[in-house]
Parts: sequence; structure tokens; C-alpha cells
Amino acid sequence: ATANTNGTASHKFDPNFTHNVIEAMGPKTSPRMREVMSCLIKHVHDFAREVELTVDEWMLGVELLNEAGKMSDHKRNEGQLVCDVIGLESLVDEITFKKAADAVDAPTASAILGPFFRHDAPVLENESSIIQTPVEDGEIVYMHGTVTDHKTKKPIVGATVDAWQASTNGLYEQQDDEQAEHNLRGKFKTDENGHYGFYCLKPTPYPVPFDGPAGKILQLLDRHPFRPAHIHLIVQHENYKPLTTQIFNSQDEYLQNDSVFAVKDSLIVDFVPLNGNPKASLELNYPVIL
Ligand code: BEZ
Ligand code: FE
Repeated sequence: ATANTNGTASHKFDPNFTHNVIEAMGPKTSPRMREVMSCLIKHVHDFAREVELTVDEWMLGVELLNEAGKMSDHKRNEGQLVCDVIGLESLVDEITFKKAADAVDAPTASAILGPFFRHDAPVLENESSIIQTPVEDGEIVYMHGTVTDHKTKKPIVGATVDAWQASTNGLYEQQDDEQAEHNLRGKFKTDENGHYGFYCLKPTPYPVPFDGPAGKILQLLDRHPFRPAHIHLIVQHENYKPLTTQIFNSQDEYLQNDSVFAVKDSLIVDFVPLNGNPKASLELNYPVIL
């Protein structure tokens, strides 16, 4: 504190404060950790200064983080969801994808993983169905395609196509006791022609869970929780960079305002009527380029 000319004490904030916090890092910190944390501290400090963050506002943020932690378990990743509704997962995907997209003959675009992926989906035969718990209000899609190499354009044999989707009630199986374990999930291997094919539901829009901190943020920001209808995919082969993506229905009402900002134009697809196949009323031919 320094003395004012009128004799009262005033507190002068140390102009080197942010610098000092950054420089408190010790020599054993890795270069990347130093780079990331220096930048994070700088921006968080600048943010607090810029909005003149109050103690109450800061505490609200702390409580929100604590609440997200308490809610999270192997079925619910509220921290990820909080990041999602402020666009962070999509931004990180975009940063990662930009590098790949700069390449000539860019492969299929990526999109966020989201919090409902499971590593242990069943491996299924091509032409089988991921629907274990049938629904009365759903349309069945035959989804199929060829996985190819972006440079050689040749089919990729033995690639894994891992697909998952929510049911028509808007819930993934781990959120819903009425669905069989692993309902609407399956891994398929491309055959000698690079072909994969399976039956699934025509995806429908659903709200992200909004009974926790992510929902609180949406409510405070006067936003809806809906995601446009989509099917998630991870396509991988040992010789290629794995692709995590989502495909979106061109007819969806939420394409322009996805609550987690994941839509990319090149990932929008048309489901077309399918005649003569008793197992499905719609078809989606979706080629994947790695
Ligand atoms: C999803 O697509 O499954 C998802 C993505 C982000 C937040 C919530 C759900
Ligand atoms: Fe999803």
C-alpha cells in the first residue's frame, strides 16, 4: 500500500503480478506444460481484469466446476459437457482438423467425440443391425459405404467402423435403463473391397443433458440444449490417422444452432428412401476417406 496525498492508504496492484505467477513454475516443468500454462494464466488473469470479476462471480464459477465434478462418473462426463456448450470441444477439434484439412485431397472431416462414446462396443458382422432394443417410432436405415485412402483412392481393407447413436427417446443406452447394454453401438470391419454396411435408426435430434452445470449455463445464456440428429463414427486402420466424426441429417431443424457447435457442412447427408429391402425404409451411402 502507498500513501495518497490526502493521507489515506491506497493499494497499488503489482503490475508484474501475472508475470510473477507464471515465473513461479520450476525448472522441472516440461516445455509444453510451461507453454500451455503460461498462456492459460495470462488469459485467465486478463479475463478477470477485463470483466472486473467479483468474488461472488468467481465463486459461482468455482461452485459450477465443483458441481460438474460431483455429477461425473463413468456414465456422465459433466466437465466435458460444460466445455461442449461453450464450444471448446468443437474448437479443439477444429484446431486439430485444420492441420489435416490443409493437405491435398483432404480426408473426411472430423467432428467431436462427445461424452457418450464407449470403448467396448460389440464387434458385429457386416449387414447386421446395431438395434437391439426396437422402437415403435423409429425408421430403419441401411448405412453402408466404402472406406478409401485419400491419396491412392484405393479401398482400405480391414478398417474398423465404430458407430453409435442415441435412441428415438433422445437417450444413449448408458443413460437409459430401458435399453439393452450396447444398444445402438457396433464395430464393423471393412471387407476385401473396403465395404462396410449395417442397419441403424434414422437419427433424431435430442437435448444434451441439462439437469446440471451445462444446463445451468445454457439457461443463463438463454439457449436451447438440442443437438441436430447425427450418427457418431470412429473409423480407424493401423496405417492411418484415426477419424472421429459425426454425420448430420440435411433435413434437421437444429443444423444451424447445434448446442455444442459441432456441425460442418461436409458432414451433412441425405437419407434416401429405400425400396425392396424389407429390413430398412431408408438408405445412407456414406463413403469414408482416411
Ligand atoms: C453427443 O453428440 O453425443 C454429444 C456431444 C456433446 C455433448 C453432448 C452430447
Ligand atoms: Fe451424440
